[in-house]
Amino acid sequence: MPRKNLIAGNWKMNSTIPEAVVLAQEISNRMERDWLELVDVAVCPPFVDLKPVKSVFEFDRVDIAVGAQNVYWEPKGAFTGEISIAMIKNIGCAFCIVGHSERRNLFGETNEEVNLKARALIEADITPIICVGESLSVRDGGTYLDFVTAQVRAAYAGMDAADAARTVVAYEPVWAIGTGRTATADQAQEVCAAIRKVVGELYGEAVAEATTIQYGGSMNAANADELLSKPDVDGGLIGGASLKPADFAAIVAAAGK
Ligand code: 13P
Repeated sequence: MPRKNLIAGNWKMNSTIPEAVVLAQEISNRMERDWLELVDVAVCPPFVDLKPVKSVFEFDRVDIAVGAQNVYWEPKGAFTGEISIAMIKNIGCAFCIVGHSERRNLFGETNEEVNLKARALIEADITPIICVGESLSVRDGGTYLDFVTAQVRAAYAGMDAADAARTVVAYEPVWAIGTGRTATADQAQEVCAAIRKVVGELYGEAVAEATTIQYGGSMNAANADELLSKPDVDGGLIGGASLKPADFAAIVAAAGK
């Protein structure tokens, strides 16, 4: 079966509850039902917006999933300021981003923590969107494939094939995030193919072929078509453009072609 594209909006730290409700409603209004047959769509708002956004989509009976941007792996207890997997599960999150480069670089999230989060999410039947990607200096140094594939291997440590089959990987080169400098379609394809190869080495061809591998980094309505035309690019993790309903809808439409 061909892989379905997954378009996920990462709202990052944007939108109060009233703003999030308006944004979710505008996104819902623009989603044509036949696109949603062909493309999986999710939005990942800040924690406090998850429930209100989910309610908008439920009320509209529109098949847009919600996901969290982060989570803590311990089940409960004295972890001030953290949010558990049971909490996001209870809201109805189908996805959770882990290891976003902003979390790795600004908040010191390590490969080991990414692995703990991903494994705990799978146990709770929430799909982790595991983010990997190199900095500009690593790209310029030419070792980006080694760097990214090492991140992928670390994220999968201790997972069996059945676990791995329930993950999504997002290749997000740090130099392309929020910069307006998108990777070319060939650059995205090269790294997404390398990621699929590693998944194949770890878990076999069938898991590799079934794994959704997204590209993220300045994807927008104008460049989505070309990026998504590449065989190993199975959708996008969208930052800035996911806050603009018309642009987000255009990306979903491109993913459904
Ligand atoms: P931009 O689309 O704003 O570059 O952000 C990409 C991203 O970080 C998605 O997680």
